Amino acid sequence: MFVVSRLVLLSTAVLVAAGVVAVSQSLNAQSAFQAPVNDEHPFVRPKAGDDRSPCPALNTLANHGYLPHNGRGISHSQLFNSLREGFGLSHTLATLLTFGSYTLLRQAPPLSLLDISRHGGVEHNCSLAHRDIMQVDYEYPPMNLDSCLMQKLVAESQDGEFLDVEDVARARVRRESAPEYKNAPLDALHAEIARGEMSLVLGIFGDGKRISLDVLKDWFENERFPEGWKPEGPQGFFKTFTTARKIRDEMNRIRKQG
Ligand code: HEM
Ligand SMILES: *[C@@H]1O[C@H](CO)[C@@H](O)[C@H](O)[C@H]1NC(C)=O
Repeated sequence: MFVVSRLVLLSTAVLVAAGVVAVSQSLNAQSAFQAPVNDEHPFVRPKAGDDRSPCPALNTLANHGYLPHNGRGISHSQLFNSLREGFGLSHTLATLLTFGSYTLLRQAPPLSLLDISRHGGVEHNCSLAHRDIMQVDYEYPPMNLDSCLMQKLVAESQDGEFLDVEDVARARVRRESAPEYKNAPLDALHAEIARGEMSLVLGIFGDGKRISLDVLKDWFENERFPEGWKPEGPQGFFKTFTTARKIRDEMNRIRKQG
């Protein structure tokens, strides 16, 4: 019931968002993307007291000052523009992700990275490289990367050089079938979000099919934009959705094989 009502809320937000997108796209010609690292946006490590999240993308944006460096008081336009400038998201996808998040969080901007990390909003169990909430009544998960989980993710690579759709699917099946989630499996919406996260990564830093392990490790571990990298973008909704479907199909195939 809870899931259904959230889906209804989400689809309402998506419809509103689609309207906003139609208008904004007619006003904006598609511009080429620039390297996100420059004099105005150098990498600056978070200092004690700064908010960060379990999302490597949002943390990167804060570390480079596309979001407030302390991770607090994030406005809608800061979140929207940073996703476009930092990762080359299309208008449509940036709109869907921002409004989708407000809906799931039941909170309007300004937001902090801590707000965004609240368990059960966008944040979910069975993360690939982060430990999950420790107990049922915890509100927030650990924000830092778990090196043991990270090693296991990297070890899914079959060729030792790239992580591809099939490797991602195997990693997700492994996490989702861990014994601690037997009584609390991911709901359909969060399972989709989890596939979406890696679909974005494959599309933005890779060719949609695979990503170099070096790039993945450097990005996850340091939460900074790769040296000399720029988004080829735009990373759009259909591209993201299509790769997420491929991950899902692979997961189903792997589960059937047992
Ligand atoms: C409005 C935009 C976004 C919001 C609110 C958001 C929020 C989050 C949150 C709360 C998590 C934690 C989920 C978990 O428990 O694992 C997460 C994870 C993740 N996000 Fe984001 N995110 C956004 C955009 C992006 C983008 C653009 C990318 C890719 C460039 C991305 C990549 C990831 C990845 C790969 C993870 C999984 C980390 C793991 O499994 O250990 N996110 N995101
Ligand atoms: C996440 O997993 C924990 C067990 O590790 C469980 O208590 C909790 O209910 C799960 N959260 C959701 C939203 O299912």
